[in-house]
Amino acid sequence: LKSTTELNNGVMMPRLGLGVWKTDNSTAKNSVKNAIEHGYHLIDTAKQYGNEYGVGQGIKEAIAETGINRKDLFITSKLYNGDQGYATTLHAIKGTLKRLGLSYLDLYIMHWPVDGKYIDTWRAMEKLYHEGLVRAIGISNFDVPRMKNLLAHSTVTPAVNQMEFNPINQEKKVIAFDNWKGIQTEAWSPLGGGEALGNKAINKIAKKHGKSAAQVILRWDWDRGIVTIPKSAHEKRIVQNSQIFDFQLTDDEINAINNVDQEKRALWYDNFKWHSVNAPYTDEVDHWD
Ligand code: A2P
Repeated sequence: LKSTTELNNGVMMPRLGLGVWKTDNSTAKNSVKNAIEHGYHLIDTAKQYGNEYGVGQGIKEAIAETGINRKDLFITSKLYNGDQGYATTLHAIKGTLKRLGLSYLDLYIMHWPVDGKYIDTWRAMEKLYHEGLVRAIGISNFDVPRMKNLLAHSTVTPAVNQMEFNPINQEKKVIAFDNWKGIQTEAWSPLGGGEALGNKAINKIAKKHGKSAAQVILRWDWDRGIVTIPKSAHEKRIVQNSQIFDFQLTDDEINAINNVDQEKRALWYDNFKWHSVNAPYTDEVDHWD
């Protein structure tokens, strides 16, 4: 869990962490505390999740109990869509830091590309980066054309691109673009929100190694160099999700999981029904405001 990857600005980022989407403040507090106590260093939240305060409390309590240094943790939060725009972005970080009880973030991510605003928003994020309030800046949920547009209008290349990525939805084009530009890919919902755990091919591999489907998926992320942040509100699973180093996937097994790709995503705003990844998310702002 201490293993890190070097981002394109030299900052070292842990490769496996905890996600806290869909957890309230008190659950998030417990999950974060449990995770740090069990050796996690990377924690990923967002203003949109409404649990930055709980995450901050969990960090505070874990620091007090374990004696870990703040600088050894890697805390990510995300800019809310409704805060996009230059001045509003400069302001929004203050609220995020205050709720988290932190003086800086390790990574600040633009949660979604809001058309007509994401360039100005990025300029403000570049300023926050230059001022040192955030050690790295990144993006989330960008497709390749929007990434190209952003790069054409920016001076700081995103360090991280966080996207929905799991065996059923492998977004190969986006990953190829990230790799080409030196952007670290990070997977949100690496277990497909739990939906990928029932996959037959993955369970067959899991059985062979005496591991769970979740562990096989997370090991596959690890082997592919993708930073991964599974969410769990249960201590046992938080621990289980970090125990992926006592077995190895063969090349054939990795290829078998690569072939699970259906280019489909389970959309949370449509009762987690599967949709083609080639149909873009419908207007994100509508869904998040
Ligand atoms: P829970 O929070 O009740 O443990 P994702 O990170 O892809 O969004 O997936 C999160 C979902 O997968 C949550 O519903 C979480 O449930 C479940 N989950 C996380 N880890 C495991 C695990 N090791 N085994 C089974 N389910 C898991």
